[in-house]
Amino acid sequence: MSSVTEFQQSLEQTQKEARREIEQADQLEALNQLRIKYLGRKGVITSLLRSLKDLPPEDRPALGKTSNQLKDEIEQIFTKKTEELGAVRREKREFFDHTLPGRRQWQGRLHPVTLVGEKIIRIFYGMGFEVAKGPDVETDYYNFSALNFPPDHPARDMQDTFYIEGDLLLRTHTSPVQVRVFERRKPPVRIIAPGRCYRNEAINARSFCTFYQIEGFYVDTDVTFADLKGVLSAFVWELFGKDVSLRFRASFFPFTEPSAEVDISCVICRGQGCRVCKHTGWLEILGAGMIDPEVFKAVGYDPEVYSGYAFGMGIERIAMLKYRIDDIRLFYENDLKFLRQF
Ligand code: PHE
Repeated sequence: MSSVTEFQQSLEQTQKEARREIEQADQLEALNQLRIKYLGRKGVITSLLRSLKDLPPEDRPALGKTSNQLKDEIEQIFTKKTEELGAVRREKREFFDHTLPGRRQWQGRLHPVTLVGEKIIRIFYGMGFEVAKGPDVETDYYNFSALNFPPDHPARDMQDTFYIEGDLLLRTHTSPVQVRVFERRKPPVRIIAPGRCYRNEAINARSFCTFYQIEGFYVDTDVTFADLKGVLSAFVWELFGKDVSLRFRASFFPFTEPSAEVDISCVICRGQGCRVCKHTGWLEILGAGMIDPEVFKAVGYDPEVYSGYAFGMGIERIAMLKYRIDDIRLFYENDLKFLRQF
């Protein structure tokens, strides 16, 4: 058999095999392998073309032409098949472009209000308090009536409270958790109750329409105001340091009697007087008092047998002092430049 016949047979064979193999390819990766097999630098067709030079010179032009036609044909079916498989893949959304830059993964972190809230809870937990929670949507009874707010108390005004419908409202403080716990439990109860509160107030650097409070209360036989002072002093010293002083100022809440507002010596100027403490040297951080007998009556505790204290503080206010933040609105703007600092 002459080498010319051999060459022609190889051409025919290659054409048949290439058509069949390319037709059967069902993945772009497999197609690429075939492209290398036939058209690559050491591919079948490339080798055939190269071996033309070993044929008798008179046969070369015709066979060269046929070979080039075969090469063109194979290139065309590759192009067609590549488009087909690409379209299938896009349709199935399998396309993955490994040349695209990666997407940055952001690291999440806890909100400063969460951080300070957890710190406060940990301190009271260490003093034997349990954690309880109540609903954000309350009834007038738990938020006001059971806490001895008279029907015409200004806090009940639409101006201050977000009413939902009928009896429902957004709690204005965490004190209703006291009532909910007292209804289910008998003393002794020693509870810390963190949660979100809502007030229909003008928004400015110092007050916002929503904020977090932590309520604390302890009811047992023989609980005194001295116990309250002891627990709050221990708390303040743990949170702000031993060199901070406390001051209890007489105040009023419908659900405590006597009531007090508690100030600490200014943690910014150490009591010398500055812009934050409005040059008084003192910062108010919480409300407190001995639970009013009217509250005990509402929940069926005998005020002759039991006594207790309660206190409530705003978490943002404490976070502002700890981190020296001068505008409460920053906590709710979700600006990452702010949040990433904690
Ligand atoms: N609930 C009061 C407020 O929101 C705070 C407080 C709690 C006062 C418990 C006394 C006792 O202002």
